[in-house]
Amino acid sequence: MIRAMVRNDFPILRRRIHGKRFAYLDSTATTQKPLSVIRAMDEFQRKYNANVHRGIYTLSEEATELYEGARKKVAQFIHANSEREIVFTRNATEAINLVAYAWGRANVHEGDNVVISVMEHHSNIVPWQMMGRELNYELRITDVDAAGLIDLRQLEQQITKRTKLVAVTGMSNVLGTMPPIANIARMAHRKGALVLVDGAQSVAHVPTDVRKLGADFLAISGHKMLGPSGIGALWAKQELLETMPPFLGGGDMIREVTLQSATWNDVPWKFEAGTPNAVGAIGLGAAVDYLQKLGMGNVHKHEQTLVAYALKKLRTLKGITIYGPLDARKKGGVIAFNVDGVHPHDLATLLDREGVAIRSGHHCAQPLLRNVFNVMATARMSFSVYTTKRDIDQCVAAIEKARRVMG
Ligand SMILES: Cc1ncc(COP(=O)(O)O)c(C=O)c1O
Repeated sequence: MIRAMVRNDFPILRRRIHGKRFAYLDSTATTQKPLSVIRAMDEFQRKYNANVHRGIYTLSEEATELYEGARKKVAQFIHANSEREIVFTRNATEAINLVAYAWGRANVHEGDNVVISVMEHHSNIVPWQMMGRELNYELRITDVDAAGLIDLRQLEQQITKRTKLVAVTGMSNVLGTMPPIANIARMAHRKGALVLVDGAQSVAHVPTDVRKLGADFLAISGHKMLGPSGIGALWAKQELLETMPPFLGGGDMIREVTLQSATWNDVPWKFEAGTPNAVGAIGLGAAVDYLQKLGMGNVHKHEQTLVAYALKKLRTLKGITIYGPLDARKKGGVIAFNVDGVHPHDLATLLDREGVAIRSGHHCAQPLLRNVFNVMATARMSFSVYTTKRDIDQCVAAIEKARRVMG
């Protein structure tokens, strides 16, 4: 179990908001950063800052070693076969776009189809819509039920010999549900389609082993797993990355350039055009160290305990609608809900006055809210390693107060 003392590792949580203890319950949007991450980035800037892969001098070599060391840490964290399978990107969104543009343009053609679920974050919808328009393929959308369970029968019917890719979330950022990726991958592979998992949430909340996952691509977000913003990663097997054309062109991704043409660097650097976010990668490496010390199994258990506690407390309140599964064992650390007669934006504003930060809005999942739940917005509380039962108590008390204020 993760002890409440973990909270002390996160300096921002000592802040007071409107004079109140700070209860940060928006970790699904972005997580707070432990001191070890802040220090690793500070140390890099103070002692090692130089452009990586470029200089022959000591500082550049040290910076390169640290940058490539961070790649190794991410690879080990998700049990990749090699660090060559990790491409650093700006975020999970860019990782998905990299697949859509580089792999998509080379592999998906007119008359083909790509399958996604209605539960996806906009990051795993919009790139496929954009590429669908360019490449003239069909985008098929699989339904989910109110508990966030993917309609596997429909999915199986939608996957045909013309399906090139099935792209699904590893964990919904609204409902917390985790689709059965290994099952889905078997279905897709039987028909020759590849599988992309949007791991922006799942990698931060549950143990990830890409050798068991069964997927072909995994998108990772640094800022959602205690790392800094501006860094993420794409995992894919080295052989698959080698078959793909580059995404962006520029420095670092080339082997040789003439005025007429260019040849490409080895993977993963072929996909890392321009000066990379080395300090971000160092921060992500430190975040991985921190999570590994806690143990991702413990992180998952901790969040399940909090979800069970929060669901129980929320259900004692009158006029609350909770979206998604009501069984903590079936979800990650996020609960979307609404309070009768109180708009979620008003609720979030009133909770802020009590020192509680929750999210309100469409959570970048408008199709899920509109098509499955027929709402435009919800409130959402979400957890991480530093979340405590006291945060949840403070939030529930603030909801009760907000309801009284709003009559
Ligand atoms: C499920 C899911 N996918 C993708 C993203 C986008 O991640 P990033 O901010 O790293 O681009 C998010 C962010 O909220 C998310 O929750």
